[in-house]
Amino acid sequence: MAEDRVFYITTPIYYVNDRPHIGHAYCTVLADVLARYHRLFGEETFFLTGVDEHGQKVQEAAAKRGLSPQAHCDEMQAHFRNLWPTLHVVHDDFIRTTEPRHEAVVQEALQRLWDAGEIYRGEYEGFYSPRVEKFFTAEELVDGKCPETGGEVFRIQEANYFFRMSRYQDALIDHIRRNPDFIAPESRRNEVLGFLSQPLKDLCISRPKARLSWGIPLPFDPEFVTYVWFDALLNYCSAIGLYRDEERFRRLWSGAHHLIGKDILTTHSVYWTTMLMALGLPLPRRIIAHGWWLVDRTKMSKSLGNVVDPLSLKDRYGVDSLRYFLMREMVVGLDADFSEEAFLRRHNFDLANDLGNLVNRLVRFAERAFQGRVPPPADREVSSQDRSLREMAQAAGPLVRSLVEALRVEQAVEAAMNLVRRINRYLAETEPFKVVKEDPARAGALVYQALEALRIALTLLRPVMPGKCTELLKAIGADTTEGRLEDLRWGGLAAGTPLALEGAPFPRHEVPSFEGEPAAPAAEAPKAPASEGPALVSIEDFQKIQWKVGTVVSAAPVPGSDKLLALEVDLGEGAPRPLVAGIGKVYDPASLVGRQVVVVANLAPRKVFGRESRGMVLAASGDQGPVLLAPMAPVPPGTPVR
Ligand code: MSP
Repeated sequence: MAEDRVFYITTPIYYVNDRPHIGHAYCTVLADVLARYHRLFGEETFFLTGVDEHGQKVQEAAAKRGLSPQAHCDEMQAHFRNLWPTLHVVHDDFIRTTEPRHEAVVQEALQRLWDAGEIYRGEYEGFYSPRVEKFFTAEELVDGKCPETGGEVFRIQEANYFFRMSRYQDALIDHIRRNPDFIAPESRRNEVLGFLSQPLKDLCISRPKARLSWGIPLPFDPEFVTYVWFDALLNYCSAIGLYRDEERFRRLWSGAHHLIGKDILTTHSVYWTTMLMALGLPLPRRIIAHGWWLVDRTKMSKSLGNVVDPLSLKDRYGVDSLRYFLMREMVVGLDADFSEEAFLRRHNFDLANDLGNLVNRLVRFAERAFQGRVPPPADREVSSQDRSLREMAQAAGPLVRSLVEALRVEQAVEAAMNLVRRINRYLAETEPFKVVKEDPARAGALVYQALEALRIALTLLRPVMPGKCTELLKAIGADTTEGRLEDLRWGGLAAGTPLALEGAPFPRHEVPSFEGEPAAPAAEAPKAPASEGPALVSIEDFQKIQWKVGTVVSAAPVPGSDKLLALEVDLGEGAPRPLVAGIGKVYDPASLVGRQVVVVANLAPRKVFGRESRGMVLAASGDQGPVLLAPMAPVPPGTPVR
């Protein structure tokens, strides 16, 4: 592993015309999570965020408030700066484009390009959209409006300065072709190549002061200020020492990764890259475009009027749960739907049930049976379950690392959670809570094995939930100094270390009722008999039904149905049973694997959607859809329910 690698991650710098919202928060938390993972993997890491303070939008926002642009910026930047610690975001630098260290670099870059003939004076004619601070030609307009926002555009004819962007079209196409992962995901790369299949125009990089005064003056013509995007993009270099500390700049720049939203892809992949080429600077390593958080198919930053502000969820349910939800729910590159209901389900199922209960049970058991200390491991592994749990825990680090490097963050989180679920299954299979009566040393070894696997799982979840995972690592007696690669090796937990846990790590929250389409009840949920009250059954009839606890071995959607899941459930019969359950609208298949359910085991087999279902999974018919029944503590598969 190349541990001398540098990982330099940036977020867009955010406009200070508005307060921070979920879009800003998602991108910045994702950058923080990636930075923390790369630090865990032993790389030198640098994480930059900041604010974009120039341009027409900011000037107008300040004017509306009756403030000078500078006073407006000074106040608004604090909303961003102060938000990040509350989301547990730890950046290495925060840049403002009104800082002298940035303005000096912008002027130096402009002067160099002017001296090299890369900038010329010309006549500009076109349509200006203030919302996106961009110019468009008459052909680019859609029904006379801005093609990106549908907003008003203004016809403009004036002298301006232009950057010879068109010169670099072929070199840029060549770079993108030669470096397949330069723009991620691939769909965005294709979008940029599509854009570049049309002739590239030169870029207007100035605004006459008479029209816009809030910007960095051009060093070679003080009657003009710099176009806000030309100014803003340079922040990625000015913050790390371009033209000031070349050595530091070169080192960090060699690992540059720009995280951006899909709406600012062209400015980054075309304007920025060609600017760098003209300046004789290397291109960044990667440009990663994420999707949007949507509600009712609308970009959320615009539609907050109709929903709860996601940022307020951190105050109600905890910042770690919010970070977990944002990372687990969105596939980097695709859009995702936000709802408080989906948030609460993730919180309850993944964090409260799977993770929280596990830590709680282990610590409480160790308090009762092992004087509240980590019990000693076995001299050697006794069972195949011991070995397979250890092997899974040892493989988890490299697996998560490769998923993070491939930007499959949601899968990396799922891989760590699968280890958590495997530990739950291990405890269900090996039963230390029973074994302790006859063989306390063996029970202790089982608990050690579970705690050690849990330590690795928590280390891998810590970049996503730094607050809670640090607390839980401490609770199970693990070292909590900043995670390092060594922490992913088996055997880090020292026997005899005290365990201590206060309260439930992730208290469950009621899922309030939400308006909208009611979730479908479970296909197999028993229907209440009509009218004159339920018919009574004799105990003999009741005893004819075999109820059993089973462990879900696999779960997958049934193609063609959004309601049905095909499950395989281990009922202790050798081969798992195929079952079809109408729980697909409420449960994510991956989250079910390893969970225990209650099954009617002697129901006559039937075909559902062409698949055999040999039994019925029981669920409560909740207002929000089916809620699966499960034993309160793990039991061996096949355990009868009476
Ligand atoms: N100032 C420019 C960026 C300059 S970078 C050199 C800018 N600022 S912004 O304040 O508008 O920030 C926008 C960022 O937030 C974009 O990356 C955008 O994709 C992201 N989001 C805004 N709403 C969003 C969602 N609903 N969901 C996810 N991200 C979205 O553009």
